[in-house]
Amino acid sequence: MIKLLGIFGYPIKHSLSPYMHNAVCHELSLPYFYVPFQVAPEKLGQAVDSIRTLGIQGINITIPHKESVMQYLDKISHEAKLIGAVNTIKNENGKLIGYNTDGRGFVASIKEDFDVMPKGKSFIILGAGGAARAIAIQLAIEGCSKIIIANRSLSKAKNIAENINANVPSCIAEAVELNSSILVSGADMLINTTSIGMKKEDQSIVDPELLSAIPMVSDIIYNPPDTPLLKEARKRNAQAANGINMLVFQGAIAFEIWTGVTPPIKTMRSALDNELKKLDKI
Ligand code: ATR
Repeated sequence: MIKLLGIFGYPIKHSLSPYMHNAVCHELSLPYFYVPFQVAPEKLGQAVDSIRTLGIQGINITIPHKESVMQYLDKISHEAKLIGAVNTIKNENGKLIGYNTDGRGFVASIKEDFDVMPKGKSFIILGAGGAARAIAIQLAIEGCSKIIIANRSLSKAKNIAENINANVPSCIAEAVELNSSILVSGADMLINTTSIGMKKEDQSIVDPELLSAIPMVSDIIYNPPDTPLLKEARKRNAQAANGINMLVFQGAIAFEIWTGVTPPIKTMRSALDNELKKLDKI
């Protein structure tokens, strides 16, 4: 019998996740089908109930529901609790368990892209939204020594830094404003989690001179694949990578949570590359 997987978001039409997951099910002949569901915010409770009613096996949660969905679940993983957001739900015989695979997906992506693990490393994170939160907390859980969170609104950066300092004391977290001079002191890796770099007219989010003190630069944007930040980083001989592998690995980890099967990363990646190529031509 075919079992259902899917994603709840609003809007949902741009999601690439269905292509990535269905490619794996097809390749491995697994009896699952992944469907995108457009769920308006005021209908989220009903939609979560339908996971139980219809026996849907697993659901991804995306913008704007990652935080609000938590109130409807039966259990929430340690990571997701710390992050304060859920992007993956597993239906275990009618009990809904919430996970967050965004942070773990990011850590797996830097292992792949830079061959680096967080332990003992220092990071500068630009932005303090949901993605920054998941990444910062996962880096801290996995043993990084220092995180500077730089954001336009200082209070949101402070909130993440305080959360880390209170819950993961082995990591020192500090909040600064986006254009703070502290950033000049550098770090092992700089990570952009803001949307600056998505639009054609955008320039590098930080002064390119700053990048001389940073050997690795990651931008979680994947469309366009090469943001001005990544171009400037490469000019200064830094290693640079975009967010496509974070998308792949957060999906791969979710797939494994739902099905117990480790999916072939290559298949997920090429399904995404195909879809991104099509978007390019539109
Ligand atoms: P996500 O879930 O992808 O992290 P988000 O929660 O909306 O998205 O967070 C977006 C981040 O990008 C925020 O840190 C936001 O800064 P503010 O907290 O000050 O709003 C940042 N951001 C978005 N547009 C920006 C801009 N033009 N300049 C600086 N920062 C920007």
